[in-house]
Amino acid sequence: MATPQTDATARFDAITAGQLRSVGSLKWSEFPDMLPAWVAEMDFGLAQPIAARVAETVASGRVGYLPNVLIPGMGRAASAFMAETHGWDVPAEWIRPVTDVLTALECTVRFFTPETGRIVVMTPAYMPFMWLPALYGRELVQLPMVRAASWDVDFAGLEDALAPGDLLILCNPHNPIGKVYTRAELERLAGIVERRGARVFADEIHAPLVYDGGTHVPYASVSAAAAGHTVTATSASKAWNLAGLKTAQLILSNAADAAVWKAKGGFKEHSATPLGVVANTVAYNDARPWLAEVLAYLDRNRMLLAGLVAEQLPGASFAMPEGTYLAFIDCNALDLGGFEGTPTEFFAARAGVALTEGGLCGDAGKGFVRLNFATPAPILRQIVEQMGAALRA
Ligand SMILES: Cc1ncc(COP(=O)(O)O)c(C=O)c1O
Repeated sequence: MATPQTDATARFDAITAGQLRSVGSLKWSEFPDMLPAWVAEMDFGLAQPIAARVAETVASGRVGYLPNVLIPGMGRAASAFMAETHGWDVPAEWIRPVTDVLTALECTVRFFTPETGRIVVMTPAYMPFMWLPALYGRELVQLPMVRAASWDVDFAGLEDALAPGDLLILCNPHNPIGKVYTRAELERLAGIVERRGARVFADEIHAPLVYDGGTHVPYASVSAAAAGHTVTATSASKAWNLAGLKTAQLILSNAADAAVWKAKGGFKEHSATPLGVVANTVAYNDARPWLAEVLAYLDRNRMLLAGLVAEQLPGASFAMPEGTYLAFIDCNALDLGGFEGTPTEFFAARAGVALTEGGLCGDAGKGFVRLNFATPAPILRQIVEQMGAALRA
């Protein structure tokens, strides 16, 4: 008899490009003539318990403003998930709804840092971190990571870069490089941030997407100092693929910040949606088996991708992601046959594959492409084979 696991593998393998195009997600509708491996969306549908509760909520007509009575349930669900999955005890009342993680970032900048504070980002980094600081009227400081076999923090550079009032954006697991920070790295970071009088925005949206052998350690959990200088944000939106329902969790980790949030942030809570709050609650409480199936499938896809890159794109390389479903592939050594443009542009024009431009992740990402491997394995194979054929042509 088939195990649930093999059932899921067969189910996900059988999803076709035609079906995904007809669903019409952002990922599959934006470039109708290309195979998409760009925006961070997954192609595995919606977990049944979430789909059922969202449908019930719509049918009941509970789609007005976010009812306050729904908020504690999401706090309890997220709190239990953090405790059981990441070993972090955070009170449910300190887990607050906001529209999305980038709204949590904006609130952190506006409510928790001085106007003179700069925003420090370790690059390569999630693309909006490169342009959002200017929108908030803040200076961006890019701190390139050190690339060896993996990507390492430039601790000395960070000590020099950070000044009092600055905000370090720490993305863990780190989009686009898939790094999952160790407790020792986080403790060392916390020591530097504390000494420099700065603060941290811990973007942990990819936290449920860590592969076997790795452990997600919430940054705010590593010490009292870290809890004192951090605002954390997460959501079920990446791991359960429900970003369009527009709900994330802003997590406070000290009483002073909780008081600031109460005074200034309450209004922001009502930009989250009833459907999103219900979906996040069900995800954390009742859709962990679906996540386990997806993670096992993604784990195989990342191995498949490593083999495909070695076979189809000789000269390209990437650090194996420890978390996320994104691979950041170094294409600097590829021979593009005199093509004038970036590797991303080359693969769009010559292979019909839509990737994310590495240069959008900061200067350290130039010559890289970000490839989203959360797609059925046959489609992943086709994507990399088309890239390989374009190189050989
Ligand atoms: C690291 C990271 N942060 C934030 C976001 C955006 O999240 P949201 O849609 O909740 O603002 C993403 C989306 O891919 C992401 O990868």
